[in-house]
Amino acid sequence: MQGVREKTLHGCSSVYWVSGTEYSAVFDTGFPGDYPTLAEQYKEFVTNCPPLKYLFLTHSEMAHCGNTALFLEDFPGSIAVGDVTDLHLVFPEYVDRLEFADPGACYDLGATEIQVVESVFRDMAHSRWFFDTASKTLFTGDGYSFSHYHEDGACGHLVEEIEDFDIPPSLSRFSDAAFYWSNFVDVETVIARLDEVVLDELDTRLIAPAHGLPIGDPVATVPHIKEGLRVNRSGGVVRTGAYADDSYRSGR
Ligand SMILES: [Fe+2]
Ligand SMILES: [Fe+2]
Repeated sequence: MQGVREKTLHGCSSVYWVSGTEYSAVFDTGFPGDYPTLAEQYKEFVTNCPPLKYLFLTHSEMAHCGNTALFLEDFPGSIAVGDVTDLHLVFPEYVDRLEFADPGACYDLGATEIQVVESVFRDMAHSRWFFDTASKTLFTGDGYSFSHYHEDGACGHLVEEIEDFDIPPSLSRFSDAAFYWSNFVDVETVIARLDEVVLDELDTRLIAPAHGLPIGDPVATVPHIKEGLRVNRSGGVVRTGAYADDSYRSGR
């Protein structure tokens, strides 16, 4: 939360909980400072859910995995899965409960599966996205991230529920602060792959980013996201080919 031009700018780090019939899963674990609030929230429903088995981590940055050890401690039957690069150094006591996962891997929750998907928007080399097959929800971590003003009345809503919400400048503003590198890659390569993966291959119905409002109508809203990605904020040189290789698919 930050004061900007007499308004309050919100940039959240969302943590999502999904339950199948056998197991539950959490998507990213959020900032350590937020854990008391998270624990307060999940204790309201956790006793009615199947056991938490998986912590799916999009990438090993503090905003996305800072609470991993706290979740592992509170849920002894759980493991952390996804981009766990370097987390054995951060949480050495839990090294045997960290599992690196490549795109294509699948985890059964009962009545739904979680597929590991390539992260089209990669803040780190081995960033991962996750797809819930039953609800067709795509958990994108830093992908599709944008801020909003508290005065917009946007907190707790899908982006489509906010009248006249202007996505391109919101996405551009957040990218400038958090993903400055995105000024220097061939964004059209990213955009083309977004369409292929999110709409054509997965037929995504709900996009759940860590830092933006969930997107409930991807077909209608993604064009505005693309417009925001096309804003070259630095005026710098746009390099091509930065996303052309597939080295992110495996290794660590
Ligand atoms: Fe990130
Ligand atoms: Fe992030």
